[in-house]
Amino acid sequence: MCGIVGYVGKNNGVPVVMEGLQRLEYRGYDSCGIALLNGGGIELEKVTGKVSELMQTIAPRQMKSGVAIGHTRWATHGMPSRANAHPHISQDGKIAVVHNGIIENYKVLRDELENTGYIFSSETDTEVLAALICQAYSGNLEHAVREALSYVVGAYGLAIIHADEPEKIVCTRKGAPLIMAVGEDEYFVASDVAAILKYSKNVIYLENDEIGVITRDGIKTYSSDDEQISKKIHKITFKLEEVEKSGYEHFMLKEIFSQPQTIYDAMRGRLLPEEGNAHLGGIDHMTGAILHADQRYFTACGTSWHAALIGEMMFEQFARLPCEVEYASEFRYREPLVDAKSIVFAISQSGETADTLAAIQEAKQRDAKVLGICNVVGSSIARETEAGVYIHAGPEIGVASTKAFTSQVTVLSLLTLKLARLMGMSQENGKAICQSLQKLPENVEWVLKQADQIAEIAKLYSDASNFLYLGRGVNFPVALEGALKLKEISYIHAEGYPAAEMKHGPIALIDESMPIVAIAPQDKTYDKLISNIEEVKARKGRVIALATQGDERIKDIADHVLYVPPALSFTAPILNVIPLQLLSYYIAVERGCNVDQPRNLAKSVTVE
Ligand code: F6R
Repeated sequence: MCGIVGYVGKNNGVPVVMEGLQRLEYRGYDSCGIALLNGGGIELEKVTGKVSELMQTIAPRQMKSGVAIGHTRWATHGMPSRANAHPHISQDGKIAVVHNGIIENYKVLRDELENTGYIFSSETDTEVLAALICQAYSGNLEHAVREALSYVVGAYGLAIIHADEPEKIVCTRKGAPLIMAVGEDEYFVASDVAAILKYSKNVIYLENDEIGVITRDGIKTYSSDDEQISKKIHKITFKLEEVEKSGYEHFMLKEIFSQPQTIYDAMRGRLLPEEGNAHLGGIDHMTGAILHADQRYFTACGTSWHAALIGEMMFEQFARLPCEVEYASEFRYREPLVDAKSIVFAISQSGETADTLAAIQEAKQRDAKVLGICNVVGSSIARETEAGVYIHAGPEIGVASTKAFTSQVTVLSLLTLKLARLMGMSQENGKAICQSLQKLPENVEWVLKQADQIAEIAKLYSDASNFLYLGRGVNFPVALEGALKLKEISYIHAEGYPAAEMKHGPIALIDESMPIVAIAPQDKTYDKLISNIEEVKARKGRVIALATQGDERIKDIADHVLYVPPALSFTAPILNVIPLQLLSYYIAVERGCNVDQPRNLAKSVTVE
């Protein structure tokens, strides 16, 4: 998704902004640009393509300024092109705007502005903002921005400069993330902390419609009613190494291999092995409300939605608490049966997903209690929810979510354990679950040791056009997740199915060209899954089986077997997803795909 970086300070902001844009590359983009104030006016450069190309383009110009804004664009309105790339300049050449989000009423505004003679030079919604600010300007940029935005419907994170106020960036947001940061005699604005982490860990979060005015003298913030307000400075706890590759070829591989640690971090201080229980500081006070709610919902998108499906199964099986899982994008529009007696869990890695935020608003409007399970500290979802749990996976840079998924499921296991104990699960069973959770990091290490074997299998299947993933129970969402990982990074069509559903349709697709990934641990449906594998083999399908360590029988029927240690259904999905993450990673590498930044995808989807 689009990225914003801005700098005001004593140094040259150009390299700072360029480096910040590179750190935002992981979010996905197709064009980029930079604008700066050089005393005489605005200097601008934009390119379609990578930040490295922008760097090459500006290198001969030796651009220098203490005030600069930059942007990586992920096209929504208009093709990726130099004209559509940000920053957008107003017709008088004095204002430069970078924007994340979507202006929903831009067409009406654009028509009105064109009727007054305004000439647009791009197809974007953003250029409408430059035009509106230009028309509203009478010597004070923040006032002009406020007035311009009063005509606007939509979502935005914005950073704006004006040639007549050469030491200032004005920024604001609504529904799209934006932070400001304080360094030593220098100040920053960014859509993501990763962009400026090298320079500052002191961050100010802007709320919807608040305006930040950044000058060399500091940062001033104004409420939506235009009152000057003082904002808390938050300390970022993660380190720069966490947003670097640290010797791995890709962020995705680093993140897959970091899972023994990130899973441990998700449990740290929360597991009570002696008591066979768990403690989740952020929502312990809500457990009564969760138990007694009339309806419980999980809402999320993509990979987080798969984690929610596992949460639902665990809640119902172990805590005997009924609940439902809804795509956040559907929840909002289907008049959900939610009221003051409902609990809604919103699950999100980024904490900025527009659909999930919209579902939260819907639930809140219906007076439900909304709890968050988030990774990014201080994110919009973390702030919009009444209470919640952080998964503490650290920054996830690879667009395909891996470590966040296993940490989400880990937190859902802890929550299930806590609720199950309150619903009557014995201490003995609770202790067994704690033991299984404690062993997870070690067991994940064990699974990761098969990476080389998985890389070899990947070579055999990288030319496939379709894949089918089969699993049952908690492994059905794992099958969905395996298929999603494969399609997003290798562009191979893949589908996940509950294994027994295969015979109700997908079996028609099976022939020698169709690889099947069968998740077949030795649980209560093992024999049924073996029958499914036999059915696949009878039709010449090729099978990669995921089996329990020590299972020799499956070797006779599957073409390849990957092993995972025996696990309870609390921990099985976490272990089983890891070989699938590695399989898609190595297949994508084999196919020469851009693993960390797959085409058309964005790390956080801040548009509905
Ligand atoms: C898949 C993936 C996406 C996200 C989805 C929700 O690898 O990353 O499907 O899971 O966009 O994002 P969050 O969890 O940030 O709300």
